[in-house]
Amino acid sequence: MRARFRRLDERGRPALTLHVDGEQVEALEGDTLMVAMLTSTGRLRESEFGDGARAGFCLMAACQDCWVWTEEGTRLRACSTLAVNGLKLLTREPEATWPNIA
Ligand code: FES
Repeated sequence: MRARFRRLDERGRPALTLHVDGEQVEALEGDTLMVAMLTSTGRLRESEFGDGARAGFCLMAACQDCWVWTEEGTRLRACSTLAVNGLKLLTREPEATWPNIA
């Protein structure tokens, strides 16, 4: 899918690597997850209502349209969370896991 954001300036920052659904994504130090993801692809996540891909809306941590998940299940707002080298993200909420109660 074609990138939604295009980086025009500030190319001199240190490079980071993230993984989104197992795919490697290049970012720069200081990028939010949204910038990191949308300079590589056109979407952040799948809608929980089944109406397609979402790419954020407000860009200021208010609308909740940009949720992404770590592989461990932590939910993050992509527009207000800084990218961290090596972070592994999912564009769908991982299956809920419940502790075994025996
Ligand atoms: S885009 Fe609205 S909360 Fe992130």
